[in-house]
Amino acid sequence: MNEILRLSGEAAEKAVALRRAIHRHPEMGNQEHKTSALVVKTLESLGWAVERPVGTAVAGTLKGALPGPTVALRADMDALRIDEATGLPFASEVPGVMHACGHDFHTAGLLGAAMVLSRCRDELRGAVKLLFQPDEEGDGGAKRMLEAGCLDGVDAVFGAHVDPDLPAGTIGVKYGKMYAASDIFKVVVRGEGCHGASPSEGIDAIAIGAQVVTALQQIVSRRVAPTDAAVVSVGTFHGGNQLNAIAETCALEGIIRTLGPETRQKVKGLFTDTVEGVCKAMGAKAEIVMRESYPGVVNDDGMVGYIAETARRTLGAEKVAVLTEPTMATEDFGYFTQAVPGAFYKIGVRNPDIGAVWPIHSPRFVADEAAMGNLIAVHAAAALGSPKKY
Ligand code: NI
Repeated sequence: MNEILRLSGEAAEKAVALRRAIHRHPEMGNQEHKTSALVVKTLESLGWAVERPVGTAVAGTLKGALPGPTVALRADMDALRIDEATGLPFASEVPGVMHACGHDFHTAGLLGAAMVLSRCRDELRGAVKLLFQPDEEGDGGAKRMLEAGCLDGVDAVFGAHVDPDLPAGTIGVKYGKMYAASDIFKVVVRGEGCHGASPSEGIDAIAIGAQVVTALQQIVSRRVAPTDAAVVSVGTFHGGNQLNAIAETCALEGIIRTLGPETRQKVKGLFTDTVEGVCKAMGAKAEIVMRESYPGVVNDDGMVGYIAETARRTLGAEKVAVLTEPTMATEDFGYFTQAVPGAFYKIGVRNPDIGAVWPIHSPRFVADEAAMGNLIAVHAAAALGSPKKY
């Protein structure tokens, strides 16, 4: 067994204990006070320089003995508004809040990597920066850490997410586009109200809004290439108060999900053209409010190759899976990969023997803690290597 794997196995015992403590006391986005205090305490005990860049975020830095690049590793700390139903002995003690997305696992795994790296300081080239971020599930804690300068001087950034579709301990890597970009829209169709018996005296906002919904279906089915991925979903539609009156306005809201920045720009442009065009053709006015959410994760292929090679060397080739399917889910790690070359990867936590067959965000989601050592080993080995060569 190589040295990193041996040290990671030792660190995993402590990391699992930390993970259980965090799992018992889950905290919602931007309220990660106990979690971040535990992170600070652990990093300081290991000799890391600790900063509090913004809100509940924590950044820890360890400088190596040799010159070299600065590698950042990221974990998210926030939980979800879900009532835990796992029956685990260390289940959530906070009613209605649960670590159902494995962020407890990510945080503990990064602390485990801190333990290993502290012991390998003599071999460390450059520096390692650990980023413990708030609010991944909410409004993008990664963006606020980026704006606070947390990636200044960083040469490469890596992060990982638990995956109940992969066997426990398997590392999953994905080249290129991995998570979707997300945009949220609200459209108000402005017509003119009148008596329902004489519709030609007004402009029927509901009839036009219905045409807008129908026309929007053309974007993905007819305007985006079948090999590109996009979703346009209308989730709410409200209009009218009086059954014998023509509604003056109607409002619809929904989401746009796209893979890759080109598809994102194209779909957003088509959306605006479609809504405005349909409304104009039928005599109404359209008001569109579009709010940009997470930018999508597009991995740097060189950095993916680096993680894959690092994981193969550390764990063995049989523990590395190259994933081919992206997801239309979102992940705010994309703010980091937009700023610095980086790669997001998966750590398998599936073990049917302990019931780990539920998806993330399920109240029954269970992660196999046997995977902890491998997560720690890949994080630590990635920080000790030289991503610049890739
Ligand atoms: Ni998550």
